[in-house]
Amino acid sequence: MSAEGPAADRSAARAGTRPALRQLTGPDVPRVVELERELFGPSAWSEGMVRAELEAPGRWYVAVDGPSGGPVGYAGLWFDGDVAQVMTIGVEPAAQRGGIGARLLGALVDRARLLGATAVLLEVRVDNAPAIALYEQLGFTVLGRRRRYYQPEDVDALTMRLVLTSDGVDPG
Ligand SMILES: CC(C)(COP(=O)(O)OP(=O)(O)OC[C@H]1O[C@@H](n2cnc3c(N)ncnc32)[C@H](O)[C@@H]1OP(=O)(O)O)[C@@H](O)C(=O)NCCC(=O)NCCS
Repeated sequence: MSAEGPAADRSAARAGTRPALRQLTGPDVPRVVELERELFGPSAWSEGMVRAELEAPGRWYVAVDGPSGGPVGYAGLWFDGDVAQVMTIGVEPAAQRGGIGARLLGALVDRARLLGATAVLLEVRVDNAPAIALYEQLGFTVLGRRRRYYQPEDVDALTMRLVLTSDGVDPG
């Protein structure tokens, strides 16, 4: 079943437009490792790190498949019983700007809300304008800055937060 449920799967299949969002599983790991290298360079997760993430407690990973099968986009959430953390999100370069990133992030936020998280947190490189724009579009705001957070690149991170309230509105 997709993470959006069987009804969403069927209607997307009928429309022939939106590939289903589904759970990311073990057989996807080699493709995710390729995408990690392409998207994140020296900070890419290794195969061992991706496998460990999928098995770690409180994680929820989803994928969107491309026309030839296999993930073109993936994202993961960690819920520790209080807040939820976006662990990663990536979309294959050829599939970017098609709404997949927003859909994946929206699914993570929905999941966090369903789990009762009080907020969703994330870190992003200060120079990653596309990702920052995506997060702001979904309502995230900048909480602070972590100096030299990304190594070996030696780049600062912005921490961003979306507060979840029962009416779904971030009070800021
Ligand atoms: C960030 C990323 C996941 C966005 O995925 P995407 O599928 O291209 O995003 P979408 O098409 O859903 O875009 C949603 C919004 O994000 C913003 N956005 C996305 N790419 C952008 C770009 N290149 N420039 C400016 N804004 C951008 C826009 O506000 C966009 O809305 P719009 O298309 O209505 O203008 C993708 O660029 C990516 O994989 N980047 C490399 C990996 C990465 O940096 N991940 C984040 C780590 S913190």
